Amino acid sequence: MAGKDEQPVTEAAGESRAYELFIGREALVERVQAIGGELTERFKDAPEPPILIAILKGSTMFLADLVRAMKIDAAIDFMAISSYSSNEATQVRIVKDLEHDILGRDVVIVEDIVDTGLTLTYLRRSLMEREPRSLRTVTLLDKSARRIVPVPVEHIGFDIPDVFVVGYGMDFQGRYRNAPDLYSVKDLARLANDPLMLVPALFPSVP
Ligand code: IMP
Repeated sequence: MAGKDEQPVTEAAGESRAYELFIGREALVERVQAIGGELTERFKDAPEPPILIAILKGSTMFLADLVRAMKIDAAIDFMAISSYSSNEATQVRIVKDLEHDILGRDVVIVEDIVDTGLTLTYLRRSLMEREPRSLRTVTLLDKSARRIVPVPVEHIGFDIPDVFVVGYGMDFQGRYRNAPDLYSVKDLARLANDPLMLVPALFPSVP
C-alpha cells in the first residue's frame, strides 16, 4: 500500500523481500484522527458516554489512539474471543467478557481487521442480546473481498486487499504487535517456517 524502499529481510541479493511497509504511522494517525472525529460527531449529544469495546488483542493500539482522538468522554472495555474450525464450520466463543452492563448504552465495537466477518457477526449477535441503545462497528482494516458473511461496518480505516499484515497491534503467532507501522507479509509460508524472520527488519538494534 505505502510502498517504501526498505531493505529485504534476507541479505542475499536478488532474493524477494519478505515484507513491505504497508501503511506507515503517519497515515495511520491521520486516518484514526478522522474516525475519532466521526465518533465525536456521532455521540456528542448522546445521553451517556459511548462504550468502546476493543477485541483483544489486535485492536488495543487502535483503541488507544482512537479514544484519544475523540473529543468527548468515552468508556472503554475489552472482550476476547477464540475461534476454531471443526467440521468445516468456524466456532467462535467469548473467552473474556465485558465488565460493563451495556443495556441502554451506545456501544462501539473496535476491531483491528474484519476478514471473513464471522467473528464480527458472532460479536454483534452476542452484544445485541444485551439490548444496547445502539451498536456500531469501527475497524481499522477491512478485507472486504474476503467476506463470507455480510456484516455492517459503519467506520472503516482502510479497505485492503487479501494480504497478511503485522504491526500496529496485529500479530503473527503473538509477535510484531508493537511495531508502530503496518507491514504486509509477502510469503506467509516462509514466516510460518521462521516466525522470527521479521525481527531484525522491524526492530533493528540500536547501533
Ligand atoms: P474474521 O473476520 O472472523 O475472519 O477474523 C478477523 C480476525 O482475524 C481479526 O480480528 C484478526 O485477529 C485476524 N486476522 C485476519 N487477517 C489478519 C492479518 O492479516 N493479520 C493479523 N491478523 C489477522
